[in-house]
Amino acid sequence: GQDGSYLAELLLNKGYEVHGIIRRTSNFPTTRIDHIHKDLNLYYGDVTDSSCLSRMIRQILPDEIYNLAAQSHVKVSFQEPVYTSNSVSIGTLNILEIIRDIKEDLDKSIRFYQASSSEMFGKVYETPQKETTPFYPRSPYGVAKLYGHWITVNYRESYNIFGCSGILFNHESPRRGETFVTRKITRAATRIKLGLQNKLLLGNLDAKRDWGYAKDYVEAMWMMLQKETPEDYVISTGETHSVREFCELAFNELGLNYRDFVSIDPIYYRPSEVDLLLGDSHKAKTQLGWTPQTSFNDLIRIMIENDLQLAEKEKFYASR
Ligand code: GDD
Repeated sequence: GQDGSYLAELLLNKGYEVHGIIRRTSNFPTTRIDHIHKDLNLYYGDVTDSSCLSRMIRQILPDEIYNLAAQSHVKVSFQEPVYTSNSVSIGTLNILEIIRDIKEDLDKSIRFYQASSSEMFGKVYETPQKETTPFYPRSPYGVAKLYGHWITVNYRESYNIFGCSGILFNHESPRRGETFVTRKITRAATRIKLGLQNKLLLGNLDAKRDWGYAKDYVEAMWMMLQKETPEDYVISTGETHSVREFCELAFNELGLNYRDFVSIDPIYYRPSEVDLLLGDSHKAKTQLGWTPQTSFNDLIRIMIENDLQLAEKEKFYASR
C-alpha cells in the first residue's frame, strides 16, 4: 500500500535489508514499488495465514517488523466486517504470537510497529485527541484497529515485547488509493480539468479530518522503533479541515469552482460517521523529535500536480 511503499524507500535509504509481503491478486499490485522492486525481497503472503507468516518470519529473523497490513477502507469494513476483523485484529495477533515464540525459542527480540489509527477515537471524547483520549470507534474497521492496538500493548506488558503503536491520523499522497476521499477528489478534479469527466459524486462533505503527508508519517514509524523504550504516539498535523474545504482548494488549484462539479450521492454515506478528527502530537514532537513537514496546501498541490500528469497521459492515449 501507500505507506509500505514510502516506508520501504525510507528503510532502503537507511541501508536496511527490506522484506515485504504482498497478497496474490490476478493483476500486479506492485505499481507503487516498481521503481524499487529490484532492491526488495518480496513474498506472497497474508497476515491471516499464520503458518505462512511463521515460516517466513522464522526464515528472515528480522530486527524490526512494521505491520501495515489491513483491509483499510472504513466504508468497506461495513460490507466486509469479518474479513476486516481477520486481517486487522487477528493478523496483528498472528504476528505478535510469532514474535513471542521466537523470543522464547531463539532468544531473539524483534521490534514491532503496529499501525493504529485515529479511527479508534471515532465519536471523540475530547478535541484535540491525544494518547490518553478514550477510544470510541464507529466502524468495524475502527473496532478491529482497537483490538490490534490493545493486543500490542498487552504483549508489551505481558511478554516484554518491544511493541509500539503509532496512532496515525489520515495521511495522504499521490500514492493514496483512489477510493479514499482526498485522492478521489484530486483524480476527479484533474480529469474534469482536462475534459475526461464532468462530475464528482461524494458523500459527507462536512466530515473533518487532520490530513498529513504519508511520506512524513512513515518517518515517525521508524523513529518509534529506534527509541530505548516502546511507547505509543499520536502522529498528526494539529490542523483539521472539512472534505468541502479539501474540494474547494483542490479545484481552486486548477482554476475551477468545486460547486460546479460536485454532487452528493448518499451511497457514500456511512452507517455511522466520524465527524471530526484533530490530533495533538505533542508527545511525538518532544520525545521523538518528529514534526510534520508538509502543509495542507502543499499536500493538495503535490497531489494535484501528480494527478494532472496522470490525466494528461490518459488524454494522450485516449486521443491516439
Ligand atoms: N472514501 C470516501 N469517499 N469518503 C468520503 C466520500 C467519498 O466519496 N465523501 C465524503 N467522504 C468522507 C467520509 O465519510 C469520511 O468522513 C472522510 O470523507 C474521509 O474518508 P476516507 O478518505 O475514506 O478516510 P477515513 O477517514 O474514513 O479513513 C482513513 O483514515 C484513517 C485514519 O483516521 C483510512 O486511511 C483508514 O485506513 C485510516 O485508519
